[in-house]
Amino acid sequence: MLILGIESSCDDAAAAVIETAHPGRARVLSSTVANQDDIHRAYGGIVPELASRNHVITILPVIERALETAGHALSDIDGIAVTRGPGLVGSLLVGLMCAKGIAHSLGRPMVGVNHIEGHLLAPMLEHELAMPYLALVVSGGHTALFVVEDFGRYCRLGSTRDDAAGEAFDKVAKLMGLGYPGGKVIDELSRTGNRKGVRIPRARIKGAPMDFSFSGVKTAVAAWLASEMGATTESADLAASFQEAVVDMLIRPTMEAARATGAETVALTGGVAANSRLRTRLAEALESEGRRLVAPSLKYCTDNAAMIAIAGSYRLLRGEADSLDIDAQANLAL
Ligand code: KG4
Ligand code: ZN
Repeated sequence: MLILGIESSCDDAAAAVIETAHPGRARVLSSTVANQDDIHRAYGGIVPELASRNHVITILPVIERALETAGHALSDIDGIAVTRGPGLVGSLLVGLMCAKGIAHSLGRPMVGVNHIEGHLLAPMLEHELAMPYLALVVSGGHTALFVVEDFGRYCRLGSTRDDAAGEAFDKVAKLMGLGYPGGKVIDELSRTGNRKGVRIPRARIKGAPMDFSFSGVKTAVAAWLASEMGATTESADLAASFQEAVVDMLIRPTMEAARATGAETVALTGGVAANSRLRTRLAEALESEGRRLVAPSLKYCTDNAAMIAIAGSYRLLRGEADSLDIDAQANLAL
C-alpha cells in the first residue's frame, strides 16, 4: 500500500509517502517539511494565525514535492493519513481539508491520526520494535510517558503538570535572549558550559513519580538572571546547568516507569529527543540496567508526516477509513 501522510498540527507543514504491507513496517519513499521558524522567530514563539495562513500557502507544494521525490503520481496513492489533533485548530484544518479533498477526488480511504500516536510510532520507521515498549514523548507541546501495548492501544503512565520540556527550553532561551526555537541553541551552547555553574532545583511531584513539571526550572532561571549573580554568569554555564536539570527531570520518571513496567526497550521521541545530552544520558542510564534506548533520526523526532503515515497505516491496511465528516480537534485525546 502506498500511503500519503499529511501533518500540519502546529507550525510545520509536512507530507510523506510510505510503502507498507505490514503494520509497523514501512519504507519511507519521501518525507518533506516546510518549516516556519523564520516567520515566528521575531515573536519568540508560534503565532497561530500566521501558522495557519502559511500552511495554506505551503501545503500543496509540500505534498507535490513529497510525491515527486517518491516518484509517484497522486493517483498512485492507496490511502491518506492526516493529523486530526491535538494541535492548533486553524493549522490542523488546513491539512485535514486538503486530505479530505484528495480522498474525495481520488475515491481513496482517509484516516485521521492523533499526532501523539505519530510520535509514539515514529521509532518504527527505522527500527524493528517489539511491542510492548515504553515511549517518552518530549516536544514543544507534550511531555509524557506511554506504554505502546499494540497498534491503537496506548497506556499513559505520566505526563507534565505544567510546561512541556520543549516549552521550557524555548521560554528559557527567550529569557536568555538566545532566540527561537530555543532547544537547539541551548543544546549547542551547553557543550562549552559548566553543568554545575548555577544551582537549579529539580522538581519532584509527591505521590506521582512518573509525572513531570518544568515551570519551576524556568522560574529558577528567571530569578537567577534577575539576581546580582545573573549579570556576571556565563550564558554557557547557565544553559548547561538548566539543560542538566531538565535532563535529570526527564530521566528520573522514565527510569521509574521502565522499572515499574519491566520495559526492555525505551523509545525516545518528539523534538526534544534531538537533545544530545538527553540522548547520551538516557542511553547510559538504561544500559546500566540492561535496557535499550531506541531513538529515531532527528528528522523523525521533530514533527514530520512519515510518522503520521505509519500511524495511519495499520488502520488503512485493515481496510478501515474515517468518514469525510471528521473534525479537527485541538484537544484530541489518545
Ligand atoms: O516535536 P516538535 O518538532 O514540535 C512539537 O510538536 O512541539 O518539537 C519542537 C520542540 C521545540 O520546543 C524545540 O525547542 C525542541 O523541540 N528542540 C530541542 C532540541 N531541538 C528541538 N530541545 C532540546 N534540545 C534540542 N537539541
Ligand atoms: Zn509533535
